[in-house]
Amino acid sequence: MSDPRTNDPRMNTFRSRLPGVVYGGDYNPEQWPREVWQEDVRLMRAAGVRLVSLGVFSWAMLEPADGEFDFSWLDEIMDLLWANGIHVNLATPNAAPPPWLATDFPEILSMDRQGVRHGIGSRGHFCPSSPAYRDRSRRIATKLAERYGSHPALAMWHIGNEYHSDCFCDLCDDRFREWLRQRYGTLDELNHRWGTEFWSQRYGDWSQVHLPRPVRGWVNPTRELDFSRFTSDLLLELVTQERDLLHQITPDVPATTNFFGCRLTDSHRWAKELDVVAFDCYPDPGKPHSMSVAAFQYDLMRTLRGGQPWLLMEQAAGAVSQWKTNQVKQPGRMRLGSYQAVAHGSDAVMFFQWRASRQGQEKFHSAMLPHGGEKTRTWQEVKALGNELRAIDEIATARTSAQAAIVWDWQNWWAVEGCAHPDNAFDYRDTVARHYRALWNSQVAVDVVTLDDDLSPYRVLVIPNQYLMTRQHSAAVHRFVEDGGHLVVSYFSGIVDEDDRIVEGGYPGALREVIGAHVQEFSPLPAEATVPVRAAAEQTALTGFLATASLWQDDLETETARPLAVYRKGHLAGKAAVVEHELGQGRAVYVGTRLDDDALKALVRHVLDRAGVRPVHAAPRGVEVTERRTDTNVYLFLLNHRQDKATVTLDRSGTDLITGCRLEAGQTLVLDAADVAVVRCPLSASQHAEPSSSDS
Ligand code: GLA
Ligand code: ZN
Repeated sequence: MSDPRTNDPRMNTFRSRLPGVVYGGDYNPEQWPREVWQEDVRLMRAAGVRLVSLGVFSWAMLEPADGEFDFSWLDEIMDLLWANGIHVNLATPNAAPPPWLATDFPEILSMDRQGVRHGIGSRGHFCPSSPAYRDRSRRIATKLAERYGSHPALAMWHIGNEYHSDCFCDLCDDRFREWLRQRYGTLDELNHRWGTEFWSQRYGDWSQVHLPRPVRGWVNPTRELDFSRFTSDLLLELVTQERDLLHQITPDVPATTNFFGCRLTDSHRWAKELDVVAFDCYPDPGKPHSMSVAAFQYDLMRTLRGGQPWLLMEQAAGAVSQWKTNQVKQPGRMRLGSYQAVAHGSDAVMFFQWRASRQGQEKFHSAMLPHGGEKTRTWQEVKALGNELRAIDEIATARTSAQAAIVWDWQNWWAVEGCAHPDNAFDYRDTVARHYRALWNSQVAVDVVTLDDDLSPYRVLVIPNQYLMTRQHSAAVHRFVEDGGHLVVSYFSGIVDEDDRIVEGGYPGALREVIGAHVQEFSPLPAEATVPVRAAAEQTALTGFLATASLWQDDLETETARPLAVYRKGHLAGKAAVVEHELGQGRAVYVGTRLDDDALKALVRHVLDRAGVRPVHAAPRGVEVTERRTDTNVYLFLLNHRQDKATVTLDRSGTDLITGCRLEAGQTLVLDAADVAVVRCPLSASQHAEPSSSDS
């Protein structure tokens, strides 16, 4: 993977403009009179704001009628920001088409699956296929690039906002057919790939093929899967078209769009089209596992472009307003979450939004500057953090390497939550989060990959419920284990190919040789039911292993594998719940049920230990540890997520960048609840040469 510091001229330009950790947020000055702008820039400076995302929802203010432009206010605000040393992440405003566009061209409005056209008054209500929408969004993007391309404040392009719209209109229907023609070439191939022998669905002419509008009853899962692929590709086309025109007019300015973990957009594919990954993250302070979910998302963002640093483009300074109950971030927790993003590879800490809106749907959403102004706790914390971050500026561009990886795959997400499976309450996000948590609680560094990625840098690979596996995936996993890798793979993996067609030869067809066992039948458990599990009698490595199984049981028959754990009760009592298989130089552990959290962690820990994957640093539970590295230093992040103090005995000497204190190996560091330390440890000559997976 290329080094972003040498091979990425646009990001190099960005970094020379904005060295260090970037601080800022969405800025919506169009909601405020000019007097307020003056106060905004004064306070932005006080808080160390260096970059604002501007104009995200300002199309109607910039183009009040078709082809009539008013850039005067934007000219003024760009100049004002620059006069105060603040850079701009300028948005192309396509996320919220103005009312005139929908009135002049009703086709630009998106249509839901039931055929209902969306009205105006919200956002994201565009049809991605509409020629008028495409034309007018390109036009305004072009105008912005031409007008501000050489403005000194311009540092980055923010294309659209959180792409997430699917559409079922006739224009999209035409495009879907076109996309299918490109993908399959012939109708025969389409019929074959979609399995149209089933229920008399064979198509005799392309005109009979449609996107999945409502049907009488059950659906064709492969058509649904292709519709997801199509939607992701269609939205990506909008992004790449804008990116190309922006790059053409402003070749030095990087372009990105902000991801938010949307189901419709396959970020693995999207990230490759952008200059840098940007991510919006809203961990719910009311949910117990939200910080490990955030860590997972951050690791994903870092891995998407081969370990290159990414940008936290939005987070909340406090509570959001879109959930049922919107809990605040308690004192110190916004700071902690901000460092967490940096600890996982972000070179930015940004917020939605700068100043709390006084009207509109988000008027109760927190902001860097709340309605209560400078006296508020949130503002005080925001201001303190922005200034404090200067102490860790040198972290920017530092990389992370991991020896463990977990698989997260949008294609599988679409497929595994498809219809009419043995269990239909399956939640892919939740199941991956549980597997990730086992790694997180083991305090090891983790990359988040797909099975299309190069797996050779990893010693341990965790594959949660990878129902969809292509022939290449199956070969890659086989090779990974044969070459000495340690695999943990859980139930309902390796079941179908990319067409959602069963891989034949007994479940799991794509993994049977790797796991040395097969599944006779799937046996899902009713919602509340649990089954006790214990270590297999002949098993020593997992002596004392006790677990609770829920949700699912595979009726597992070992072939060349041996049982690691068995069911103690129920109709599968005595049969294997977890098996282990040696293959080539490596080993595969197959988990045929949903284990409770502690048991899953114990199992993953066992595999990590055997593979020799060490924790980043020893720390008590609830203290997150990560590392970022440059050529000369290792930066150790210690993040105390607990509600009480935690002590960590340092295994190395260094300098705490935040306090400036010198720390010696063997010394005990006390972290208050929600506190953070970032310790710079110079690399010795021997550590220097240590290979880093993400740099390979
Ligand atoms: C998203 C959007 C923002 C805002 C926030 C609220 O991330 O991009 O415009 O609506 O959610 O949390
Ligand atoms: Zn449409």
